[in-house]
Amino acid sequence: MEILIIHGPNLNLLGRREPEVYGSLSLSEINAIITAEAEQLNFTVECRQSNHEGIIIDWLQDSAAENFSGIIINPAAFTHTSVAIRDAIAAIDLPVIEVHLSNISGREDFRHKSLTAAVCRGTISGFGATSYLVALTAFKHLPTI
Ligand code: DQA
Repeated sequence: MEILIIHGPNLNLLGRREPEVYGSLSLSEINAIITAEAEQLNFTVECRQSNHEGIIIDWLQDSAAENFSGIIINPAAFTHTSVAIRDAIAAIDLPVIEVHLSNISGREDFRHKSLTAAVCRGTISGFGATSYLVALTAFKHLPTI
């Protein structure tokens, strides 16, 4: 069972980007934690990051043909702006879980609205890197996987 992890824009800067909000772990450290947890759950994961909306859309569209069984996505700022990523998630049959490191409901008003959440299976927000691990656990228990 392979899960595709998609990290959106600016998440390549984790560790030095607003550490008081996003924590001190780098993206490669977070990916290592995700990969170790996935192994415990008998999943394999592929972790990707892009700053580009169209690339993320291509990854979503191609995910089934690439034999992924589910997707965990942190759309980052595209969460609040991208109808195109929302439509891509709605267009595919794979289950998608949205995650955020920070609690977007407790931040600025413009972060309260997620355009993507409604077309995802669910959202996990506010637990730092642990948000990704909770999403893996959710996949473990989803009847479709
Ligand atoms: C984020 C929250 C977004 O509002 C923000 O634009 C990000 C990161 C998070 O993981 O907390 O870049 O998705």
